[in-house]
Amino acid sequence: MIDKAEHLEKNQIVNGGSFYTPARFVEVAAQWLKEERFDSSYTVADTSCGYGAFFRLRSHFPKNRYVGNDVDPVAARVARKNYPFAEIFNKSALSGIGRAMFRLGTEKLCVVGNPPYNDVTSQIGRPIKTARHKTDEAVRSRDLGISFLKSYAALAADLVLILHPLSYLIKKANFTSAKRFFDRYALRRSLVFSSHEFADTSRSGEFPIVMALYAASPGGGLTYEEVRNHPFRTLEGESFRLADFDYVADHIRKYPCRARYTPEILFYTLRDVNALRRCHTFITERCAGAVDVDPAKLAYYCYIDLFKEYARAPYWMGNFDVPFRRKSFSRYAADITALSKSRHPEVFGAQPPIPPETERRVIAYIRSVLKRPKEKNARPCHGVRSISAPTSPPKKNPST
Ligand SMILES: C[S@@+](CC[C@H](N)C(=O)[O-])C[C@H]1O[C@@H](n2cnc3c(N)ncnc32)[C@H](O)[C@@H]1O
Repeated sequence: MIDKAEHLEKNQIVNGGSFYTPARFVEVAAQWLKEERFDSSYTVADTSCGYGAFFRLRSHFPKNRYVGNDVDPVAARVARKNYPFAEIFNKSALSGIGRAMFRLGTEKLCVVGNPPYNDVTSQIGRPIKTARHKTDEAVRSRDLGISFLKSYAALAADLVLILHPLSYLIKKANFTSAKRFFDRYALRRSLVFSSHEFADTSRSGEFPIVMALYAASPGGGLTYEEVRNHPFRTLEGESFRLADFDYVADHIRKYPCRARYTPEILFYTLRDVNALRRCHTFITERCAGAVDVDPAKLAYYCYIDLFKEYARAPYWMGNFDVPFRRKSFSRYAADITALSKSRHPEVFGAQPPIPPETERRVIAYIRSVLKRPKEKNARPCHGVRSISAPTSPPKKNPST
């Protein structure tokens, strides 16, 4: 079976969000469902099924009913051919939402899949224009994937086992925008991996994706505080919690505002670690994205400038705010400011030379931020080893 939308041109794949799920993730999904006491009373539905990758679940669960749908008629046709046991529809999953649209009754429903997404926070600057189809008012969102999350709640799914950008969980604005979903579902399992696991994704646009199992939770769903404390595991066997880090953004302004200071120092808008990789830090010309630096907080901005230069942040940190160590920061602030200023004579004028040991000290501080406390008994998620051993060499991306 094919994991790539072969009938589409590259720009159509991007526009339609048609990155199909590799089989190895479906195997992990099967393991998770087995551990959830999943049984044949569930109907399994993928409302944006592409070629039907998730219907491979049938080899583990042969007695369930399988329902699929895709707005792309060719994809729906291929899915029908690949998986004749599944009932495949060809319509927008976001219009006229209700169980009747897929001939579903009151049975238990497990939604699976990998909905299309156009995560503007992860892909800023890329010429992405996701195809829009008729969408019910109740599920409208800036991001197509978030509309899909809301549609699963509208279908009253009992289990939701999907792949989506990690930013939906960890970026407060996204989390709030998907409240209609997260208010009703608890997060049972998660596995974080790079967007490079999909065929033909661009090297520069790498961002973290999470495969997550959610279960309906009538007593109340997921809170942002729970997300902050959730122990995320990665495909490579690493683990992290948002709450393990301090964030510079909690101490400065990230976005432009009316405040003006003397001297005028400008910094480019700070979205997240991925945006920092692509954008300037200190800038000389005022522009729409210019943030006025409060001189009393200059050291924090200098830290961000040096984090961009020296930190080797892992892909899963791509949608984080810039992390730092709050407690020890004041001990390094003067060196950080001096080093960053010396790198920007166009902003700060000529600066005295920086001794190499100062630079080494600052680099050691920045890199120490990325070290996380070791978890007791930490081990990879179930099924991870069968996908990729932590020692495996990085995959070559055919598109780069
Ligand atoms: C990321 S692909 C995933 C396909 C499949 N679920 C998988 O995991 O391999 C997303 C699919 O969503 C489909 N799609 C986009 N908008 C849709 C809509 N409004 N309704 C139904 N399907 C849609 C695209 O055609 C594409 O096949």
